Amino acid sequence: MAEIISGKIVSAAKREEIKTRVARLNEQGKSVGLAVIIVGNNSASRVYVNNKKKACEEVGINSFEYALPEETTQAELLDLIAQLNNDPDVNGILCQLPLPSHIDEQAVINAIDPSKDVDAFHPFNVGHIMIGDYTFLPCTPAGIMEMLKFYNISVKGKKCVVIGRSNIVGKPMAMLLLKENGTVEICHSRTENLKEETLSADILVAAVGKAYFVTADMVKEGAVVIDVGMNRNAEGKLCGDVDYDEVEKKASFITPVPGGVGPMTITMLLENTVRAVEL
Ligand code: GUN
Repeated sequence: MAEIISGKIVSAAKREEIKTRVARLNEQGKSVGLAVIIVGNNSASRVYVNNKKKACEEVGINSFEYALPEETTQAELLDLIAQLNNDPDVNGILCQLPLPSHIDEQAVINAIDPSKDVDAFHPFNVGHIMIGDYTFLPCTPAGIMEMLKFYNISVKGKKCVVIGRSNIVGKPMAMLLLKENGTVEICHSRTENLKEETLSADILVAAVGKAYFVTADMVKEGAVVIDVGMNRNAEGKLCGDVDYDEVEKKASFITPVPGGVGPMTITMLLENTVRAVEL
């Protein structure tokens, strides 16, 4: 039976630390503010944005929500970002993805001032992650690294397999594991013999977006399994990319869904926002 890697426990410790840092900045007369933009009526995005705002409140970060209608034009969104880039009360800007299909997401990401890019999606920050010298780390991969550290799971020399090659998770995840001296492989939808690859993983990160995609026969005995998935199963229940009930019998450590990676992603957003002011 695997030991559970609890994102709730790691988050709680980290959020206490962030709260202290925010209070210290407040004592110096500095506030910490995050602008959160949501466009349209995506219900999952609404839940994420509400959770992010609530987490800000908990640690003393001011959150400013901009909820824009579905029909918002790209030009209007870019105007708002330009205004927020110049607003001294706004230290971080987060534009919740996905955006409606008539808006070019990369153009929006590119418009955010890199020093306020708390998602670390801007090419400037992505480039810094590539060379291993950074201000902001992307929240989900950074949260996973924090969890591994908290549970004393060493990456050095380990075979790490990441399933998924998104700009948000898969690619930066690979970079952070590499920086910790992991031997890293990225698998994706075109990978041949995926099971052969995943079976070699000491650390397996699933960022696929498909419920129960990783089954027990794909996991090596004793592997550390990290589940980035946030899906709904046939009964409408929240579930990850990993078949948790079966895989946890083989893994040495595993993250649950919910209560695993999700809370850490939000915690690292808070970390980046406070860092934007400290730096
Ligand atoms: N949509 C899903 N995950 C994220 C995230 O980490 N940041 C933003 N901005 N949008 C997302």
